[in-house]
Amino acid sequence: MTIEHLVNLAYIISAVLFVFGLKLLTSQSTAKKGNLMSAVGMFIAVVMTLLIKDIIDYKWLTVGIIVGGIIGAFAARLVVMTQMPQMVALFNGFGGMASLLVGWAAYRVMYNFDLFTATTIFIAVLIGGVTFSGSIVAWGKLATVISGRPILFPGQTVLNSILFIGTLVAGGILLMDAPISPVMLVTIILLSLILGVMAVVPIGGADMPVVISLLNSYSGIAGCAAGLAIQNNILIVAGALVGASGIILTNVMCKAMNRSLSNVLFGGFGASTVQQEGGPEGEVKPISAEDAYFILEAADSVVFVPGYGMAVAQAQHAVHELERILEENGRDVKYAIHPVAGRMPGHMNVLLAEANVSYDKLVEIDDINRIIEEVDVCVVIGANDVVNPAARETKGSPIYGMPVINVDKSKTVIVLKRSMAAGFAGIENNLFYKENTRMLFGDAKSSLEALVAEFKKK
Ligand code: TAP
Repeated sequence: MTIEHLVNLAYIISAVLFVFGLKLLTSQSTAKKGNLMSAVGMFIAVVMTLLIKDIIDYKWLTVGIIVGGIIGAFAARLVVMTQMPQMVALFNGFGGMASLLVGWAAYRVMYNFDLFTATTIFIAVLIGGVTFSGSIVAWGKLATVISGRPILFPGQTVLNSILFIGTLVAGGILLMDAPISPVMLVTIILLSLILGVMAVVPIGGADMPVVISLLNSYSGIAGCAAGLAIQNNILIVAGALVGASGIILTNVMCKAMNRSLSNVLFGGFGASTVQQEGGPEGEVKPISAEDAYFILEAADSVVFVPGYGMAVAQAQHAVHELERILEENGRDVKYAIHPVAGRMPGHMNVLLAEANVSYDKLVEIDDINRIIEEVDVCVVIGANDVVNPAARETKGSPIYGMPVINVDKSKTVIVLKRSMAAGFAGIENNLFYKENTRMLFGDAKSSLEALVAEFKKK
């Protein structure tokens, strides 16, 4: 067996570890194991690659591993859960830049390459560049280094189209005249970086998680193209897996928001507040924490429905405390989790896990909707769009058709929020005016703490 055979065998083991790692990432209880498994796969791949390739200077590689490892370890320890999308944006950006550099280096060291290799280099550089600059803008918006609002200006689409066509023309020249077109390659790099910025600036800050997932997919495609350019099997496999999983997640998020990808990318969503025709019917019924206590006290089954407001209020520990008290009093307690509640995939799951809420109490949207009519009380904690009945009732509403948690069909609803303000979609919520809805106004954490205090007092 030659060293090449051995390396390819190790690559197969790495690929299997990646696939099983991804599978384990689909459940919270196995996610840590999945992460570790994929990391071991990548470690094997890197070590085996170093065996086969003519590495000129290990010194720089070692420096890179140590410096990168230290920065990564510190970042992983310091970043708080709510900053995770920013962190992922940076990871994607660096992945894109790595593919760009691999493509560039391949171009510099290969003197005679065929059309296929030249094409893969072009794709790696183009998509790598777009991913890098796009991810940096996405990071800036989420970290509020730049404005999170969509930046739209007249002629934007025309300008973007010209830039894109210009990049394709430069790519065409590069492909026709591959070995002697370094100027074209630099032009493509510059154009791709500008394209990445232009693609992300029109997108609203709160849509950024979808864009980050899409950029994640791009970084995979760029990696895959770089792998094809330098004929590295494991880079092709890893890139393809990232590219495919990123696009699947993007699709899942768009579906759960009832938006098309083009609406996310070009819609400038969140730039304005939408007023519904006619306005809601019924009256708002505010209650005190004590009133809410009496409602909960009389309930047998309680379902908490968390949303973005729970993240803002950091109310996850308070809700866990209330859950504990209700259970001690013999109540059945569940949490209903909407796939796009909050502002990032798994936002609610992460917060509740941080507060040590048991996984088996979390129920998905379809399962809770099936039994919602038998639920005595739904406590909506800073959720708005994901419980808005307009998604079922109001044709023409921006969220019409979006799957929502049908809390209005439960016996009583208590909504915890600070005001009558709209949520992310900027639309009014008829739920607040329904006969069976009571509003407990105030910061979600303070309201939950007040409820806990009521239970302790009585
Ligand atoms: P939203 O519809 O955004 O509503 C959140 C509500 O929380 C607001 O109405 C706000 O009302 C309330 N709130 C804010 N701070 C609060 C506090 N300190 N205490 C109590 N309430 C507070 O949230 P949602 O129902 O979770 O829906 C998520 C939305 O984001 C959806 O439209 C979804 O499509 C979108 N989105 C989600 C994602 C992902 S991946 N999760 C990504 C992009 C966009 P007050 O100001 O009156 O308190």
